[in-house]
Amino acid sequence: MSASEVHVRAPGKINLALRVGPARDDGFHPLATVFQAVSLYEDVVARRADDISLTIRGRGEDLPTDEGNLAVRAAALLRETAGTEAGAALTLTKQVPVAGGMAGGSADAAATLLACDQLWGTGLGREELAELAAELGSDVPFALTGMSAMGTGRGDVLTPVMSRGQYHWILAVQDEGLSTPAVFRQWDEMNGLASDDAEELPQLGGEVFSALLGGDPLILARALGNDLEEAAIELRPQLADVLAAAERAGALAALVSGSGPTVAALALDGPHAHSVAGVMRAADVAAEILTVTGPVAGARVMEHVGRR
Ligand code: C5P
Repeated sequence: MSASEVHVRAPGKINLALRVGPARDDGFHPLATVFQAVSLYEDVVARRADDISLTIRGRGEDLPTDEGNLAVRAAALLRETAGTEAGAALTLTKQVPVAGGMAGGSADAAATLLACDQLWGTGLGREELAELAAELGSDVPFALTGMSAMGTGRGDVLTPVMSRGQYHWILAVQDEGLSTPAVFRQWDEMNGLASDDAEELPQLGGEVFSALLGGDPLILARALGNDLEEAAIELRPQLADVLAAAERAGALAALVSGSGPTVAALALDGPHAHSVAGVMRAADVAAEILTVTGPVAGARVMEHVGRR
């Protein structure tokens, strides 16, 4: 069944643990990571139209609205795969920081795939959408799935992870983003591994999985870690101040999210997150301090208006 208008919401993510191995022949780095989807969302409304077009609201009003935008590429890829001539007027409302290490662009692509699938009635199903998602970018499959998952390969091969309870995070968002390829290049420079090591696959310890199963933020705090953190700090030394400010504010732990520059600080519960956020705001180390919770669901249809 097709629709005249579909609204889909997809979440941003934090990497609770991120291990990186030396670059493969295709230039991508093998990863072993645990993603948690958090309550900061990208909303895509897709309406029937002759062509594919994009309007951006909220953050990222300077982003490209042509094929340079992953949401437009997602719609074009689905159209090609489904063999339809249909178009879509997409309106994207962004909450996830741009180039912030929280996979906002990937969430846009995931939301667009699901919205256009519903709009055009292509009915690809989650599995086929996940394949298209992986073609679009390493983090796009996770934005479809959400909740908690382990990512291997280049981050696109997902295994669900059991997680109990809700975790409360404080996010320190910077005005200026970091380029993911630049952070990986910096990691290459700092780790200087020979190409002989290219077969080496990164491994995750068991701590993060048992912490999530137990649902205790104090234990999760000890299991957090990000191999890209040093590289992100090298490119943006001010991030060391943000991490220190989170610690001073009483966060259980803090880490750079993905390739950064967003810093995620873990709190004990909602009231504690509120208090840490207040102290971090006063420390004036970030453009914005937000509080979110996780895990939350992946891309989902919020509203579906039938064809009149
Ligand atoms: O897959 P995605 O388009 O999000 O990746 C953006 C860039 O990040 C890649 O072109 C690559 O430079 C880097 N990257 C990487 N290894 C990964 C994921 C991303 O080197 N596993």
